[in-house]
Amino acid sequence: MHKRAAAWLYLSVVTPTLYAADDELPQGEYLFHAAGCATCHTQEDKKGPPLAGGRALKTAFGIFYTSNITPDPDHGIGRWSEVDFRRALREGISPDGKHYYPAFPYTSYTQLTDADLRALWKYLSNRKPVPQANKRHELPWYLRSRTALSLWKTLYFRPGAYQPPSDKLPAWNRGAYLVKAVAHCGECHTPRNFLGGFKQAQHLAGHPHGVDDTKIPNITPDRKTGIGKWSASDIAGYLETGMTPDGDFAGDLMTDVIDSSTSRLTRDDRRAIALYLKSLPAVESKKHKNDRKEKSQKRKKQDWE
Ligand code: HEC
Ligand code: HEC
Repeated sequence: MHKRAAAWLYLSVVTPTLYAADDELPQGEYLFHAAGCATCHTQEDKKGPPLAGGRALKTAFGIFYTSNITPDPDHGIGRWSEVDFRRALREGISPDGKHYYPAFPYTSYTQLTDADLRALWKYLSNRKPVPQANKRHELPWYLRSRTALSLWKTLYFRPGAYQPPSDKLPAWNRGAYLVKAVAHCGECHTPRNFLGGFKQAQHLAGHPHGVDDTKIPNITPDRKTGIGKWSASDIAGYLETGMTPDGDFAGDLMTDVIDSSTSRLTRDDRRAIALYLKSLPAVESKKHKNDRKEKSQKRKKQDWE
């Protein structure tokens, strides 16, 4: 009771001032933030022009540089049609028929609905064009040719919009759609095999060597190795403010996700995500995740020194 009352007080203090305009955000802009397009497609120190690409993504397979997705006709996607855009996100194929590397999470965006893809396209086509050339990825020779990607896609990629199961509540379906398609939580939180395919049986159970070689925690409801002790409002609160139930703050890549994506969602959408996460089967991951605690203790120690 105390905890709930405190959470309510907390939310009622924080929410109205910061998020009053939620409902007025146009659909495309809302999705654009929720999907984190700008986070990857803008240089990491954020000094580069928005959406002009060039951010380095360090992965187990090499370094990928994101593309310019401004409407610049020569360096960006200014000559694309809406059909080209839809094919890129739904099928992972470029206008000239090349396969994209799954460092571009079309593996999740494929599940976006046609209406949401259209809204995103409208929003993106109205951004400022930036004439900045794309950088070449730094990959080992055997990954430089994109032809092998067609085999990879046959093995690990299932294209198609999210199909809501009819026996689930609308809020659950909204949560599943946000987690799987839009906010692509699994791109970081689901472990991958040595070929970079998702281990579907361990959906959201954490990744010992995630992007930038960070450890990514298990967010299934396992009580020992996941977030089974968090309530739905703990989860929703974390996605809004970054504060964990034990008063710590999110670090690493999750800070970007919270700042640019989940803190900008409506409260209902954050609750839907929490509801969906709470409903997942608990998966025990190998190592006890408490890297966050270790890290924060380290941080605190450094503050003292
Ligand atoms: C996790 C990082 C990441 C996120 C998030 C991301 N992208 Fe990308 N995107 C990439 C990478 C990497 C590439 C380059 C892929 C390649 O070269 O095969 C790319 C390529 C693209 C391309 C192809 C550009 C071209 O010139 O062929 C488009 C279009 C695109 N992204 C749109 C989007 C949109 C729209 C969003 C948000 C809904 C988004 N991306 C979110 C990493 C990301
Ligand atoms: C770009 C990679 C990335 C994406 C995408 C991502 N996360 Fe995270 N997430 C992380 C990392 C890294 C941490 C660990 C943060 C820390 O050390 O404080 C984390 C931590 C968390 C935690 C806290 C777990 C704990 O035990 O402290 C929750 C809950 C969470 N993420 C939920 C989500 C949800 C829901 C989404 C989708 C909306 C999401 N994450 C998308 C990387 C990501």
